[in-house]
Amino acid sequence: MGAGDYIIRAISSEEELKRVIEINMETLPEHYPYFFWYEHYELWRDIFLVALVNERVVGYNMCRIEYGIGHVRKGIVKQGHVVSIAVLPEFRRRGIGTALMVKAMDSMKEKYGAGEVYLEVRVSNEPAIKLYEKLGFKKVKVLKRYYMDGEDAYLMAREL
Ligand code: ACO
Ligand code: ZN
Repeated sequence: MGAGDYIIRAISSEEELKRVIEINMETLPEHYPYFFWYEHYELWRDIFLVALVNERVVGYNMCRIEYGIGHVRKGIVKQGHVVSIAVLPEFRRRGIGTALMVKAMDSMKEKYGAGEVYLEVRVSNEPAIKLYEKLGFKKVKVLKRYYMDGEDAYLMAREL
């Protein structure tokens, strides 16, 4: 493997889950109780991805599958929901976030038959918004005071 190489794959152990939770604690203000992480680990492992560099977990993308009123499609649709994605600061801007999103969206569609994918993101989170827009997500609506500190979220979505 070359110096910049990384591997994206499904999370494979509770040990990795603990690393993921540490990365979340270091990189995002939104945290979750252990059972919430564990539920995703148990139920949707194909779309709970980790990024590895030299066998070390440096990023993750935790997603789930839901049924709901479509954000970009009509009627009730099967939706992939990107709950939380993060990459450690020293490993950013080398395509890992993109790869974590692309692989999750592929599995949402191919393994779960999801018709669209959505997520919420802080209106101030330019890096993430840029990443999602590059992948074809559109801002669907503003969720007022979505976060604990009062900040608004964009709900962003795209078809699969
Ligand atoms: N400023 C501007 N554009 C950016 C930035 C930045 N700091 N970072 C990424 N982008 C855009 C660029 O267009 C970039 O393409 P380029 O490098 O060719 O210009 C594109 O996004 C893809 O970048 P990647 O290298 O694939 O993404 P990265 O591995 O850096 O991860 C991420 C992006 C996950 C948003 C990272 O910045 C991060 O972990 N941030 C902190 C946690 C976070 O905010 N997570 C999202 C919260 S919302 C949610 O979880 C649903
Ligand atoms: Zn969400």
